[in-house]
Amino acid sequence: MSAAQFEIFLVATPGLEAALAEEARNAGFSGAKVTDGGVTFSGTWPDVWRANLVLRGPTRILARVASFRAMHLAQLDKRAHKLDWAAMLRPDIPVHVEASCKRSRIYHAGAAAQRIATAITETIGAPIAENADLRVMVRIEDDLVTISIDTTGESLHKRGFKEAVSKAPMRETMASLFLRQCGYSGTEPVLDPMCGSGTFPIEAAEISLGLHPGRTRSFAFEQLPGFDNAAWQLLRKPATTNPPNLIFHGSDRDPGAIRMAHENADRAGVAAITRFEQKSLEDLTPPEGPPGLVIVNPPYGTRIGSKGPLISVHRTLGTVLKTRFKGWRVGIITADKQLAQATGLPFEPMLPPVLHGGIRVALYRTGTL
Ligand SMILES: C[S@@+](CC[C@H](N)C(=O)[O-])C[C@H]1O[C@@H](n2cnc3c(N)ncnc32)[C@H](O)[C@@H]1O
Repeated sequence: MSAAQFEIFLVATPGLEAALAEEARNAGFSGAKVTDGGVTFSGTWPDVWRANLVLRGPTRILARVASFRAMHLAQLDKRAHKLDWAAMLRPDIPVHVEASCKRSRIYHAGAAAQRIATAITETIGAPIAENADLRVMVRIEDDLVTISIDTTGESLHKRGFKEAVSKAPMRETMASLFLRQCGYSGTEPVLDPMCGSGTFPIEAAEISLGLHPGRTRSFAFEQLPGFDNAAWQLLRKPATTNPPNLIFHGSDRDPGAIRMAHENADRAGVAAITRFEQKSLEDLTPPEGPPGLVIVNPPYGTRIGSKGPLISVHRTLGTVLKTRFKGWRVGIITADKQLAQATGLPFEPMLPPVLHGGIRVALYRTGTL
């Protein structure tokens, strides 16, 4: 099974598909291209393991293990019984089956999931459980049934070290792709003056050290039949890299946020190259050393009437950056164009908006100030 190629699907944050495809190609997954809702390429099981380990941007990774046409439930039932489930799932590991239907004669997702679940239990005897860690996902679109296995388990933004989260944390997966869209490749300092729990500086520090994002966590694929633990341990072995001569900075006016950022950096193993300081925007100065990237997602109010103070925070941000950060580039992630404009910074043309917790946000980037 491990040598056969199949389609590997990277689930993307809406709006970040192109950045994710670029990340995948750079990581050696050649042929990675944007499709509806994500990025696909063809590969083997070791590619699935490596993708889960090294890619920073996907939300999760699916293995598309089967696809066939079915016009009605009896046909779905029959075809599902013919699949080689023993090659895909283990009889001793519980699974949960989810289904969705679109523009298809089979329109009852619950019934479709039920048929697949029955085929699995009747062929290999694997238990079906609502709360199982392993998920089989059935998508029926235009009468085409695609069966995928979620190889990730808990979403990939859970790197496995961030126990402390601030009020509105940026997901690590998104943070890594925003850093990429700002041209960050691990060779310059990064500073976040409203760092909350420290997501941007920690992510940037990890990238500069060449640390794999999935180095400390477990994955659903470890419970699949073709999983080779010895090969996985070899893959997981950290690459030896020379620590860069760079420091990654975060500051925030909230002392609780700074405490969390310290704890998170410690757990991630990047405390030696990160510095977090309680500081208000007005007191911000560039750190010693070469210029780099300022990246920040300032608060944006959703309540009517809460904008006045935010406008003034953004004006301060703009003034501080324009007057004190010559030679640096800036990336601001916000849901509010007016707030971005209040900074008075010269932004480059916009990228597509990104869906973040149900809100459309956008990255505003400058060239070198
Ligand atoms: C949306 S959160 C940032 C979340 C962060 N990116 C993370 O992943 O945890 C905005 C942060 O800005 C901070 N903040 C608001 N006004 C500030 C100011 N004037 N100076 C410094 N920090 C400020 C808040 O304390 C909050 O932590």
